[in-house]
Amino acid sequence: MYRCPICNQPLTVLEKSAVCVSKHNFDRAKSGYFNFLLKNQTIFRGDHPTQIDARRNFLSKNFYLPLANKVNDIIRNHNPDVLIDAGCGEGYYTHHIKNVNPACEVYGFDISKEAIDKAAKQDKSIHYSVSSINRLPYKNQSAQMITSLFAPIDEVEFLRVLRVNGILLVISAHPEHLFELKEVAYDTIVKHEHASLSNAKLKLLNLEEFSFTLNLTQPDITHLFNMTPYGFRTSAKGKERVEAKENLAVTAKFIIETYQKI
Ligand SMILES: C[S@@+](CC[C@H](N)C(=O)[O-])C[C@H]1O[C@@H](n2cnc3c(N)ncnc32)[C@H](O)[C@@H]1O
Repeated sequence: MYRCPICNQPLTVLEKSAVCVSKHNFDRAKSGYFNFLLKNQTIFRGDHPTQIDARRNFLSKNFYLPLANKVNDIIRNHNPDVLIDAGCGEGYYTHHIKNVNPACEVYGFDISKEAIDKAAKQDKSIHYSVSSINRLPYKNQSAQMITSLFAPIDEVEFLRVLRVNGILLVISAHPEHLFELKEVAYDTIVKHEHASLSNAKLKLLNLEEFSFTLNLTQPDITHLFNMTPYGFRTSAKGKERVEAKENLAVTAKFIIETYQKI
């Protein structure tokens, strides 16, 4: 499944390392993941550890379980034997996917070492690696399905790694996602525009919206805020208002898109 990120030759996975014919060698970390990042890719480190901790704190309480279940309903329809969770963070959804689809070989990668270390410690049955979305360590046409949940997308790399007729499941925040939380943090709210992928080799099979209400108290309101990019983009006053909010009903709203490689 893995290929060398330096020379593109197949990697042989051993107990403590992965090695290619050109003798490029990648050690396995104690928690079980491989670090396939090249030196020039280590400048950008992905999500900040504060964001990763907040996400782990929030998601571990299963507030987003309805979404994890929805993801699994869709995956079950396609019954993949090999699935890659791209930009998997600390592996909340990846773990749910593997749990519900034990026969599926599940791979997860993220550019954040901190996130992957947490993910690998939680679930040893998933093949985790620190990798960049722009240079995936997987062989051509090796995956039946790729999931991209709130993560960046590299269409060229995804198309290279997906088999023909393979499925790309993309979940993104709806423009109204967490609207009530934004009302607390900001004086003026600017709704982002949603754009579907437009690539002649990716056929949109289905687009649907999915939403539910979260009835939150502290510290979960603050965790939710800090796990999103808003945590970094908000004024000190806005943050104070979020931290002072004792309870809040928040709409979680998502856009779910299923594409097929043609
Ligand atoms: C919003 S988080 C989503 C994490 C996870 N999919 C989830 O929903 O819990 C986006 C993730 O994409 C990762 N990421 C950002 N840029 C990346 C890149 N160039 N290559 C790989 N991962 C990247 C971040 O480190 C972060 O963990």
